Amino acid sequence: MAEIDVASSARPNMLWWQRGIVYQIYPLSFQDSNGDGKGDLNGIRQRLDYLGWLGVDAVWISPIYPSPMKDFGYDISDYCDVAPTFGTLGDFDELVAEIHRRRIKLILDFVPNHTSDQHQWFLESRSSRDNPRRNWYIWHDPAPDGGPPNNWLSVFGGKAWEWDAHTGQYYYHAFLKEQPDLNWRNPVVRKAMYDVLRFWLGRGVDGFRIDVLWHLIKDDQFRNDPPNPGYRPGDAEHRRLLQRYSTDRPEVHEVVAEMRALFNEYEERVMIGEIYLPVERLVSYYGLERPGVHLPFNFQLIHAPWNACEIDRMIVEYDRLVPEGEWPNWVLGNHDQRRIASRVGPQQARVAAMLLLTLRGTPTLYYGDEIGMEDVFIPPQRIQDPAEKNEPGLGLGRDPERTPMQWEGSPHAAFSTTEPWLPVAEDFHRRNVKVLAEDPRSILTLYKRLLEVRREHLALSIGHYAQRQCKGNVMVYERSNEAERLLIALNFGHDTERVQLPGAAGKAVMSTHLDRAGEKVDANSVLRPDEGLIINLA
Ligand code: GLC
Repeated sequence: MAEIDVASSARPNMLWWQRGIVYQIYPLSFQDSNGDGKGDLNGIRQRLDYLGWLGVDAVWISPIYPSPMKDFGYDISDYCDVAPTFGTLGDFDELVAEIHRRRIKLILDFVPNHTSDQHQWFLESRSSRDNPRRNWYIWHDPAPDGGPPNNWLSVFGGKAWEWDAHTGQYYYHAFLKEQPDLNWRNPVVRKAMYDVLRFWLGRGVDGFRIDVLWHLIKDDQFRNDPPNPGYRPGDAEHRRLLQRYSTDRPEVHEVVAEMRALFNEYEERVMIGEIYLPVERLVSYYGLERPGVHLPFNFQLIHAPWNACEIDRMIVEYDRLVPEGEWPNWVLGNHDQRRIASRVGPQQARVAAMLLLTLRGTPTLYYGDEIGMEDVFIPPQRIQDPAEKNEPGLGLGRDPERTPMQWEGSPHAAFSTTEPWLPVAEDFHRRNVKVLAEDPRSILTLYKRLLEVRREHLALSIGHYAQRQCKGNVMVYERSNEAERLLIALNFGHDTERVQLPGAAGKAVMSTHLDRAGEKVDANSVLRPDEGLIINLA
């Protein structure tokens, strides 16, 4: 076990993004302030008291920039402004000031891989072959048969090449055809995009989550992607191929290093990469020969089978693979994935919360998971997401996890005064912030308490991790520093489990059932169904 000495008393506080907890806001669905059924920046500002009460350290807001909204903000038509639906730059500045006043950090989304096809750069690029911006995007002649240059597939279904009759070439789009990929081999593009980062960092943003970072550079020879032997009928179409040549090219690390150098010009800004890759390749984004990102998002908890020993094995392996001196992180959910409460069920969602908030590494929470929101059924006529529209019926749609935050039992869950852009979950009368905040045993109370406990015990936020045991449905690990040793015992099953805890055990700090604090815990102990326990070893 790599027990890296990052938690030594020489650096008791570490950096904010190592110590802290990140909370992701999907801005269309957090709070509507102007009655158009869509969330906005002033809405977020109105809810800062809640975030302060909950105890998060940083907020990451998904894209807020002008966009035709084909991919709900991930298709940007102007990188240096705010979309009218979200507000104005003035509203943004006020939000930054308010957030900082509360000592919360603000992380924005940076979408460098592609723009909207309505971005001025692309309009120019497609206007003629000799336009100075032609080479800002990835244009290619047809194959000899007139078809696309190679077999690359779009993540949203179909070919990744779109024919442009006007100029007689194809352009590449890893996502929608309305999201043409920028050409990151072009230094002029790099400079323009680095200016975007400076624009926002200069406005006080504390960091960026960088969208599909592993996509930025594609093979210079445009080789065909090989077939994926793991493809199963019913999978998304792009899974037919392994994205060997269309993503994760070695040259991407050069770009990452340049971005990191830019971040380093500012004080304590965080660079987070969205990277869906197997863990051995994921960790290369920490940087090998060159500096990498601070946090390559670790999505393993999202994909792992919900099984104690499987997860135990994964944690141990990740702990071993994170390079020395780098900082781990864990993500339980986001706007692209089914909600945790739907994946593992409402009881285990509480165990998942304790797991996320007691592991070594920065945790990222997805809005609404703290109240146990589940995937919401979207009637066909209300489907928004292109992932569902383009490949219907495969369960690829992401609307179910993007529904409005449930604040109160009043109409539209107090998210809006009008019918929201996506339906509010049917259970909002009882599952909402107001009701759950007053319930001493609710999942919201559990999250709040876990955040407090993580803050109170440095062993949890920045201490060492050590694997202890894994048997059947029970997993036990230890977090420690010079001051204390905490044992975390999690029951991944719905039955009572007897556990043999290492040492003579100690005193319960808290249970996921929120009732055993202070209780003496023997070496020979019992975990109730779906219970997680934090124990302070005497
Ligand atoms: C990222 C975003 C996702 C978006 C895609 C294309 O994966 O999280 O929502 O559709 O990039 O920008």
